[in-house]
Amino acid sequence: MSRCLVTGAAGFIGSQLCEALLARGHTVVGLDAFIPYYPRPIKEVNLAAARRQAGFSFHEADLRAADLSPLLAGCEAIFHLAAMPGLIKSWTDFALYETCNILGTQRLLAAAQAAATCRHFLYVSTSSVYGREATQAETAPLQPVSPYGITKLAAENLCRAYESNFGMPVTILRYFSVYGPRQRPDMGYYQLIRCLLRDEPFIVCGDGEQTRSNTFVADAVVATVLAFERRAAALGETFNVGGGEIVALNRIIRMLEEITGRSVRLARQPPRPGDQTHTSANIEKARRLLGYHPGTPLADGLRAQVAWQKTLP
Ligand SMILES: NC(=O)c1ccc[n+]([C@@H]2O[C@H](COP(=O)([O-])OP(=O)(O)OC[C@H]3O[C@@H](n4cnc5c(N)ncnc54)[C@H](O)[C@@H]3O)[C@@H](O)[C@H]2O)c1
Repeated sequence: MSRCLVTGAAGFIGSQLCEALLARGHTVVGLDAFIPYYPRPIKEVNLAAARRQAGFSFHEADLRAADLSPLLAGCEAIFHLAAMPGLIKSWTDFALYETCNILGTQRLLAAAQAAATCRHFLYVSTSSVYGREATQAETAPLQPVSPYGITKLAAENLCRAYESNFGMPVTILRYFSVYGPRQRPDMGYYQLIRCLLRDEPFIVCGDGEQTRSNTFVADAVVATVLAFERRAAALGETFNVGGGEIVALNRIIRMLEEITGRSVRLARQPPRPGDQTHTSANIEKARRLLGYHPGTPLADGLRAQVAWQKTLP
């Protein structure tokens, strides 16, 4: 069993990764700064289940400033999920993205190198590093079209620089559009479901024919745990992590109308700067090297998210 550090432990995906690692018997040190991109009480609820576990400890710390060495003591694996996500705000608050995503990653890598106990550094990146479309294998050109994607790519490159110069044992996981319970309130499906449940108009940016790879959160977590457990196969590699069903937003709207038994009023707006047109994760490499097979049918995953959102105040 390993001692693992999870950054972004209070977030949508990080909190569920902590629970999965604890369930497998690992000791987990969670770190999060509760960046107020969305409200702290939501993140406290995310953390609650992990906090009840004996193998979990939590540190409120900011990667940009905290002394990280005591938190890393004895950690063999580092799962680095802490970041400023969401591309729209990255146009207007670039300093926050630059510092959290780039400086935070560099400080964590430097601390991991100094600690010398880290056998595996898993960096969670995004399909946004590919650019307007993300449809090919991991070797495709990287041309991000949003400040968010640019900072995430810079952090990938920092990981590779520490790998190449200092032998840091790195794996990069590029998640594609993750959804499911605890989804961030700024994300599209969360907003669509909220509009359906509250009978409010939903804003569609573009013609609604943009496609997404729709990765159920438990599948993203499974892929991440597989990369950790199949360390020999994963070291030095970059993996796309996507779900199995590539579907346009217009189809998602119809599915969610069916699941909720309601219809939504749509307000149309032009596409937003930095928006991707098509993502369809090529997960052949993760299938081959990690044995990753996304298991959650889209309809089941959407039902789970609707059920969760119905419990929210
Ligand atoms: N949600 C998606 O669809 C998606 C898709 C691709 C990639 N990702 C990546 O997955 C990771 C997790 O995303 P999420 O959707 O769970 O976001 P989230 O905002 O719910 O979680 C991120 C957490 O990181 C913390 N954090 C940010 N900056 C920090 C800092 N400087 N120090 C300490 N903690 C800090 C935040 O407080 C937050 O709780 C991110 O790296 C994101 O880029 C997410």
